[in-house]
This record gives sequence, structure tokens and C-alpha cells, in this order.
Amino acid sequence: MLKKILITGGAGFIGSHVVRLFLKKYPNYFIHNLDALTYAGNLENLSDVESLPNYQFVKGDITDEQFVNDLFAQESYDAVIHLAAESHVDRSIKDPLAFVRTNVLGTGVLLNAARRFWKGSAGKLFYHVSTDEVYGSLGENGLFTEETPYDPRSPYSASKAASDHLVMAYHHTYDLPVVISNCSNNYGSYHFPEKLIPLMINNIIHNRSLPVYGQGENIRDWLWVEDHARAIDVIFHTGKVGETYNVGGFNEWRNIDLVHLLCRIMDLKLGKPEGTSAKLISFVTDRAGHDLRYAIDATKLQKELGWAPSLQFEEGLEKTVQWYLDHPDWVRHVTSGEYLSYYQEQYERR
Ligand code: NAD
Ligand code: TYD
Repeated sequence: MLKKILITGGAGFIGSHVVRLFLKKYPNYFIHNLDALTYAGNLENLSDVESLPNYQFVKGDITDEQFVNDLFAQESYDAVIHLAAESHVDRSIKDPLAFVRTNVLGTGVLLNAARRFWKGSAGKLFYHVSTDEVYGSLGENGLFTEETPYDPRSPYSASKAASDHLVMAYHHTYDLPVVISNCSNNYGSYHFPEKLIPLMINNIIHNRSLPVYGQGENIRDWLWVEDHARAIDVIFHTGKVGETYNVGGFNEWRNIDLVHLLCRIMDLKLGKPEGTSAKLISFVTDRAGHDLRYAIDATKLQKELGWAPSLQFEEGLEKTVQWYLDHPDWVRHVTSGEYLSYYQEQYERR
């Protein structure tokens, strides 16, 4: 069956993996990638698939109501997979309103266009991609389930929680067919080097210090980005309308243990004596309001839709390190310009 799908944020980290998966797996679907190409969006992420006949890039801002409405009026989309967002917690602490604008207003603009242009049509779907951070912070025990009450604590997670609520409100009020997934921390190729794993890899390559916030006691649950893209595929095709699905790796790591593991992998890859990279570790001022622990219970997705993570973390991390070593040009391109002043302000004053 021919489907025309609008994927937003397809030039970013996770979005580019979703676009690639859909283009290759469903050659009979037509994929439009709507992206504003902010500092985090980069068309190089899709250079291997951009010439496929079922792909089209559309440059635009999801907060631009006129633009989004014109697009929906022109194109008859069957579905939206919405990933476009401001995604970095540290940036949300510095500039919260940018997150309110893109994540809340932008999602509202897309929902409103879908409501208006899909009215009376069957078989549509608005898929909203969200984060486990909406559930807040866990203590030492317990896992987030789909029933965990929302308790966002950073401007980023609050803006994502607000967008999740808007999506459900459009479902309940206007009968818009929606589905939401809330995923844990992703890692893998094309990850922008402001986030923990690619930042540490890049800093080790350049012999820069490794800024671990606080004492490195915070815990995250890490998932291979291609496993997240597979989960999105499964939920898009077989998820129940109006439902939420948690996606996670059953793979919790304390930050400091993860950084030590990365250091060991990097020493091996770079042919350096064991312990060399770990000497770069530096404990720096903690993030404001730093959530202690995230951990996802993905049982519903496993049991109801048959999804499971495919890759062991050590193997995924080794592949990720190798990808960054093999793509110095990509790293150089995305870390030039705006990134330099961000990096200085974020780290050189700590
Ligand atoms: P990213 O920052 O790498 O990419 C975001 C993309 O959105 C970029 O291509 C950017 O250009 C685009 N964008 C930003 N503002 C826009 C606007 N106003 N209009 C159009 N495009 C815009 O983010 P990511 O890590 O790939 O995350 C994608 C989605 O998945 C986000 O919604 C995020 O909240 C969610 N998520 C991320 C993670 C994670 O670990 N990275 C985990 C769970 C959920
Ligand atoms: P990050 O990759 O920013 O993802 P999130 O905050 O969305 O979970 O950070 C992952 C963890 O690593 C988080 O506990 C904060 C910590 N961290 C550092 O210790 N140093 C850093 O330079 C960064 C970017 C993150």
C-alpha cells in the first residue's frame, strides 16, 4: 500500500535513523523529511539515502503555522512521525523558551494542521516520539511504566511532557488518531557531540578533559538508536491508537562506570596503554536539578508488540566508537561554528 508519511526532525540523530529505516524497508512509502536544520540537524546524516526516489527533504520550521498549514494543504499525508525538537537538557537550562517554542508550540501547530486537514478521513496516524524524562527521576529502585505519573523536572522534560499532554488532548477532544512512545537515552552513529557518549569520545580523540557532572553517580538506561528506530517502526504499524509505549534497553549504567568503559574501549582502539584516557576524567560542577536515575520498563512493548533490543551495550558502544573514529569529517563539520561557543560557555567556565 502506498503511504505518504511526514517525518519531522529527520535530519537529527534519531530522526535520520528512522528516515533511513523507513526508506529502505518500505520502498512503496513516500517519505517527506521536514526539518529546520538547526545546529542539531545535518543533511549529511542522510547522504547515503537522499537520492532514493521515495525521499524528499522539506526545509521548514514546525512553529511556522502558515508554512505547516500550506504543506498539509498541498500534500495529502497519511501519517506524521514527529521527532523535531530541541533535545538537550543543558541547553534547556540556558534557554528554556526555545524549548517551549519548538517542543510545545511546534507540536501544537502540527497537531492543529493534522486535525484540520485530516477531518473526516480514515486511516491517519499522528505518532509522537517522546522521552522517559517526562516521568521525572527515580530513586535507587523501581522502573518507569506507562502508568507512572508525569513529573518532569527540567525545562526540556517539562516541554516534552506538555507536548505529550497536547497529543493526548487532541485524541480525546477531536478524536485525532495518535500514538506516543517514551524512550530512554539513545546512543549510536550521528549522535551530536554535545550529549554524554559522543562528547566523551570526541574529547578523548582530542585529548581534552572528560567533564563528568557531580560525582558521576547518575544513572541512565541506554538503547542502541537503531533498536529505537525498529521500535518506532513496530509501534507505527501495530501500536494501538490512543496508547503510550515505553521503549528502553534494560541497560542501566552509572555515568562514571560508562565513562570508564568508554575510556577502556578508546585506549584499545587508539593503541594507548590501559588507563591513558581515564586520566582525562574531571569531576565538574553538577547540572542544575540533575535527575538521579532513569530506567524504563519496556514489558508492554515486548509482550504486546514483540519488540526487544537487539544489541549488547558493550558491542554497541564499540561500534559507536568505531563510527566516530571513521567519520572525522562529520564530527568536524557538526562541531564547527555554533558548537565552539556552546562548548566554551558550557565547559570552560566550570
Ligand atoms: P536532535 O536534537 O538530534 O534532532 C532534532 C532535529 O529536529 C534536528 O534535525 C533539528 O534541526 C530539528 N528541529 C529542531 N527544531 C525544529 C523546528 N522548529 N522545526 C523543524 N525542525 C526542527 O534530537 P534527537 O536526539 O534525534 O531526538 C529526536 C526526538 O526524540 C526528540 O523529540 C527527542 O525529544 C526524542 N527523544 C530523544 C532521545 C535521545 O536519547 N536522544 C530519547 C528519547 C526521545
Ligand atoms: P545527556 O547525554 O545530556 O542526556 P540526558 O541528560 O538527557 O540524560 O547526559 C547523560 C548523563 O550524563 C546525564 O546524567 C548528565 C551526564 N553528563 C555529564 O556528566 N557530562 C556531560 O558533559 C554531559 C553532556 C552529560
